[in-house]
Amino acid sequence: MDEKTRWDGVTVVEHPLLAHLLTRVRDRETPSAVFRQLIAAMGRFLCYEAMRGMRVEAVEIETPLETFKGSRLAEPVTLVPILRAGLGLADRLLGMVPGAAMGHIGMFRDEAKLEPVSYYEKLPAQATRGPVLVLDPMLATGGSAVAAVDLLKKRGCSQITFVCVLASPEGVSVMREKHGDVPIVTAAVDRELDERGYILPGLGDAGDRVFGTGE
Ligand code: PRP
Ligand code: URA
Repeated sequence: MDEKTRWDGVTVVEHPLLAHLLTRVRDRETPSAVFRQLIAAMGRFLCYEAMRGMRVEAVEIETPLETFKGSRLAEPVTLVPILRAGLGLADRLLGMVPGAAMGHIGMFRDEAKLEPVSYYEKLPAQATRGPVLVLDPMLATGGSAVAAVDLLKKRGCSQITFVCVLASPEGVSVMREKHGDVPIVTAAVDRELDERGYILPGLGDAGDRVFGTGE
């Protein structure tokens, strides 16, 4: 796949605040309680950006003084964190998006085979009727993201965006090949994967750092 095709559909959100938060989540000295808050803040910024192109429809309301022609989201938004680490990104997002619902996909990566293992699925009915934001801090080999999007498409979802904190070049390529119709929104695309499938320079194990299970 050539360089241009690989990057079509990938938004790397550049913002001084996001860059600041990302540097702090990368820092090994950042404790779990702070890491969790930083990831949640990044989730809000990244989803805000991921929602930029969403369709709106005209609506007429009454202000206390007169009639106003405004707009509202035309379709219901569904947030789908991939358990566990995706929950960190999803924290308090439901309250930010009117009419949103949340589905969950449980998936972990078999660390020996580097393949996703699926263990849970619960989706709201509205997921097939509007945009779906899949949330996972890490797009590493791409196995988990591809499997999650496979599942969502099988269930009838058609407007899917993948939102992550860090992507690897390998993960981006795999997603573009398997699901070229799914835009990726990320804070950074890092240099490479190591032999254990960890993103370098990365931020370590996102799930362990969000939930304090690292030691
Ligand atoms: C991490 C991460 C992704 C997956 C990415 O989850 O949150 O879901 O690995 O790796 P991949 O692109 O190579 O599939 P993990 O398997 O550690 O599970 P957890 O969230 O429960 O910790
Ligand atoms: N999963 C993580 O949590 N971190 C990585 O670097 C790769 C996969």
